[in-house]
Amino acid sequence: MPKEKAPRNKTIDTPISEGQQYIKRCISVNSPVLDIKTILDKTIIGDTFSVTQYLPQESVDLIIADPPYNITKVYNSKTFAKRKSSEYEEYTRRWLSAVYPLLKPNGSIYVCCDWKSSLIVGRVLDEFFQVRNRITWQREKGRGAKANWKNGLEDIWFATKSEQYTFNLEAVKIRRKVIAPYRVNGKPKDWTETNTGNYRDTCPSNFWDDITIPFWSMPENTAHPTQKPEKLIAKIMLASSNAGDIVFDPFLGSGTTSVVAKKLGRHYIGIEIDEQYCLWAEQRLEMADQDKGIQGYVDGVFWERNSLAEQNTVSNKQAQQPNPAFDLFGGISNIQSPCD
Ligand SMILES: C[S@@+](CC[C@H](N)C(=O)[O-])C[C@H]1O[C@@H](n2cnc3c(N)ncnc32)[C@H](O)[C@@H]1O
Repeated sequence: MPKEKAPRNKTIDTPISEGQQYIKRCISVNSPVLDIKTILDKTIIGDTFSVTQYLPQESVDLIIADPPYNITKVYNSKTFAKRKSSEYEEYTRRWLSAVYPLLKPNGSIYVCCDWKSSLIVGRVLDEFFQVRNRITWQREKGRGAKANWKNGLEDIWFATKSEQYTFNLEAVKIRRKVIAPYRVNGKPKDWTETNTGNYRDTCPSNFWDDITIPFWSMPENTAHPTQKPEKLIAKIMLASSNAGDIVFDPFLGSGTTSVVAKKLGRHYIGIEIDEQYCLWAEQRLEMADQDKGIQGYVDGVFWERNSLAEQNTVSNKQAQQPNPAFDLFGGISNIQSPCD
């Protein structure tokens, strides 16, 4: 008997038997792709190590990669087994060699990892690319340890192929409430006075503490075990690509990169080895036709945590009616119990 879901549980968990229409939208690639259009805005079912050899060189503007970390993890039909550091290093080198030729000379790459895999990923990335930064994401949720500090952080490495690359700073500024509004000659200094409050748009640092892991009551949530938040991917994409660019994810999982690309007007290509995850990716892509909302990103700005009221005011003003995608905005970080 399938388990009954709580009424507000929005988790996408459609089984293969009920989602054939989504599987049919995916493609396989086992010969050289001569025209990029045949793979544009598609989910490719397959193994990144073999599919990438057929994709056109220097064709994508941005790579967002979230490979299996070096821990034993079950990904539906396959298990990634923890291996010796030297073997994980070789694995990382192999997939980076496979994706490197696909990136345009002015392209960027972001690679997600945990603190331990990070020791390896940063080093190997440096063999191929110009490493520009390491973002640390405080993801809140984490498994407690008996004789260690609970891990509540992940790293995301940012690197480029050359000195020429896109970085849209204005697109990723964070809107913060001004606590002590300072005035010069009676005028706000570096902040804006509005009828919904006083704000300052600040430059984002490489420490991200405004993004929560997707959970059961969020429309973006799927049953994938390591799904990334749309807000996190949106920040990367807005900073390091432009509308109309091509974003490529070699480990697509539940489709977060493709979904965010669609919502933000980018093209996408994703490769995922597991059919079940490809199905959820396509289901989410269909949902994005109806709802382009990204939780925590409203009115073209990223909002700090606990700004639910302000975000709703802005989104309501824009839409004249509440957007169901925004029903948990900002309040997410207050709702600790479902995730703990
Ligand atoms: C860490 S998860 C990515 C999660 C994704 N960022 C999301 O938001 O759902 C890694 C994914 O890579 C897939 N994978 C592992 N090895 C692969 C390979 N050789 N080719 C394609 N996909 C692979 C796994 O099935 C898993 O879904």
